Amino acid sequence: MEYDIIDLLFLEHKKHLDDIEDIQTLFKTARETLKEKALDILKEKIEDICYELTVHFKEEEEGLLPFLYEKIGDKDGLIKTLLGEHREIENLCKSISLYITQIKEGQNKWSELRNSINEFLHHLNDHILKENFYLLKLAAENLDKNTLIKGYQIAETIREEHGLD
Ligand SMILES: [Fe+2]
Ligand SMILES: [Fe+2]
Repeated sequence: MEYDIIDLLFLEHKKHLDDIEDIQTLFKTARETLKEKALDILKEKIEDICYELTVHFKEEEEGLLPFLYEKIGDKDGLIKTLLGEHREIENLCKSISLYITQIKEGQNKWSELRNSINEFLHHLNDHILKENFYLLKLAAENLDKNTLIKGYQIAETIREEHGLD
């Protein structure tokens, strides 16, 4: 059986759900120890996942959503909602980076950082579940295998262009 865009996105979602747990643990360690090193580890993890997410969103926006829209339109406004959530999650990534930078400069922005991380993780979790149980099911029901494979190839090209394997 050939690999398609649904398989790829589902696997990436699984990794992102694991990342959510890691970030919670890393934040707790950084906050409780106030160690520069712990904050740097959290910073790196957040930057990694935020970069992966921008690529992941592009894969969805170019390798799946256009095909689904062409076939069934924007059923219940799902596509519009998901696109809005992509931009919102990207903005939360920027806020988190800003607060981490400010903390490193000596400002007390721990409460703001905690809130933005909680909001980021909540939105991300909710977004992933919405896609797994709604978007990917709709795609499986409405798109043929060739289209799904074509979507996978588009996503793979995007990943390569962004240095992800
Ligand atoms: Fe998405
Ligand atoms: Fe997704």
